[in-house]
Amino acid sequence: MPQAPLLFSPYEIRGVHLKNRVVISPMCQYSAVDGMANDWHFAHLARFALGGAGLVFAEATAVQQEGRITHGDLGIWSDAHVEPLKRITAFLKAHNAVPAIQLAHAGRKASMQRPWHGNGPLDDTDRARGEDVWPVAAPSAIPMDSGWLTPHALSVEEITGLRQSWKDATRRAIDAGFEVLEVHGAHGYLLHEFLSPLSNKRTDRYGGSFENRIRLALEIVSDVRSVWPADKPLFFRVSSVDGVDGGWTLQDSVALANELRPLGVDVMDCSSGGLLGSATAARVKRYPGFQVPYAAAIRHESGLATMTVGLILEAEQAEEILRKGEADLIAIGREALRNPNWPLHAEETLGVENEYASWPVQSGWWLDKRKKSLTPSPARG
Ligand SMILES: Cc1cc2nc3c(=O)[nH]c(=O)nc-3n(C[C@H](O)[C@H](O)[C@H](O)COP(=O)(O)O)c2cc1C
Repeated sequence: MPQAPLLFSPYEIRGVHLKNRVVISPMCQYSAVDGMANDWHFAHLARFALGGAGLVFAEATAVQQEGRITHGDLGIWSDAHVEPLKRITAFLKAHNAVPAIQLAHAGRKASMQRPWHGNGPLDDTDRARGEDVWPVAAPSAIPMDSGWLTPHALSVEEITGLRQSWKDATRRAIDAGFEVLEVHGAHGYLLHEFLSPLSNKRTDRYGGSFENRIRLALEIVSDVRSVWPADKPLFFRVSSVDGVDGGWTLQDSVALANELRPLGVDVMDCSSGGLLGSATAARVKRYPGFQVPYAAAIRHESGLATMTVGLILEAEQAEEILRKGEADLIAIGREALRNPNWPLHAEETLGVENEYASWPVQSGWWLDKRKKSLTPSPARG
C-alpha cells in the first residue's frame, strides 16, 4: 500500500481542523475602495476554497487607514468593514476551507502605488487620479530608499494607539468569522521595520538591542492573543532574513520564534526580505523552494511549527518538504493565481484515491463519470 500523501492529511491546530496542508498565501488585490471587501475579493478567495485548499488567507488587511500599502488595500479599521468580510468567510466555511486573515500595517511602505501603476511612492500621476499621498510612519525617520517618503518616527503615545488598533482589528476579525489570524511582521512593513537594525535606530525601549527591537512585535502578539480566542490559531509572518549586510538574520528569526511561542503563536510563516524594496523576498537567488531552508531552520531550532512559502510549484515538491520535516504547512501564492485548482490537481498527481471526491460535486460528479466511462481510443487505420 503506498503511503497516503502528507499534503492531504489533516492538520489540527488548537480547535481548528484543516482538511489538508495546502494554504493559500495572503495576496493583496489592490482592488478595495476605502478598505472594503467587494465582489472581487469574494470571487478571488472563493475560487481557492472551491480549488481544494485547506486554509485560505485573505490579503494583508490594514489595522489603521494610514497603514494601507495602497489606496486599494483591504482594511479593518472600522466596524463597517466587517459585513462584506462575513460573506466571504461564510462561503469559505461552507466549502470546507478555513478562512484566515492577515492583519497588517505598512509603516514606511504605506502610501504606495498599486503595482500596475508603478509600484513606487505615490506621485502626481496618482494625484491626478484622485489618489493623494498620505504621511507615513515608522520606528525611525528613515525612508525605504531615495525618492521615497520620509516617515515620521512614532512616539510612544502613538505606539500605544497603534496597539489598540491591533486589538480592535482582532475583535472585528472574530466578528467577521475568521478562524486563523496572522500578524504580518514581514516584507519591510511596520513590525519588520521595528525588528531590523537597518530601519530601527530608536534610542528608547523600542530600539537598540534585539530585546528592544522585538518589543513591539511581542506586545502586539500579546495584545492580539488577549482578544483572539484560545481555541483559534495565531500565525506570525516573518522575513526570515533581510538578506542585506547588517540586517535581520536567520538566527534572529529563531530567537524571535522562541519568544513568540510562549505568547501563544502557533505557526511561524517564513518568508524573507522586503525591507529595502517593494519585493516580498530577500535579494537572493530565486529557485523553487528557495525559502524552505528558513522554515526548516526555524522549525528545528525553535520547535515552533512553520509554514513555508515561495516558488512552491509542484505537488511532489510540496510533499517532499513535509516528508523531510522542513515545514508543517505549504503556502502557495502565484501558482494558485495561475491555477486556483492547484490543490485538487496536486491530489491527482500524488495519487489520492477517488480523487474527484474532493471536488465540488457540481464538477466532481461529472469528472468522475467521465473517467469511468473512458474507453481506449479506437486504433487509426
Ligand atoms: C499579488 C500578490 C500579493 C501579495 N500580497 C501579500 C500580502 O498581502 N501579504 C503578504 O504577506 N505577502 C503577500 N504577497 C507575498 C505572497 O504571500 C508570497 O509570500 C509570495 O508570492 C511568494 O510565494 P509564491 O512564489 O508562491 O508566489 C503577495 C504576493 C503576490 C504575488
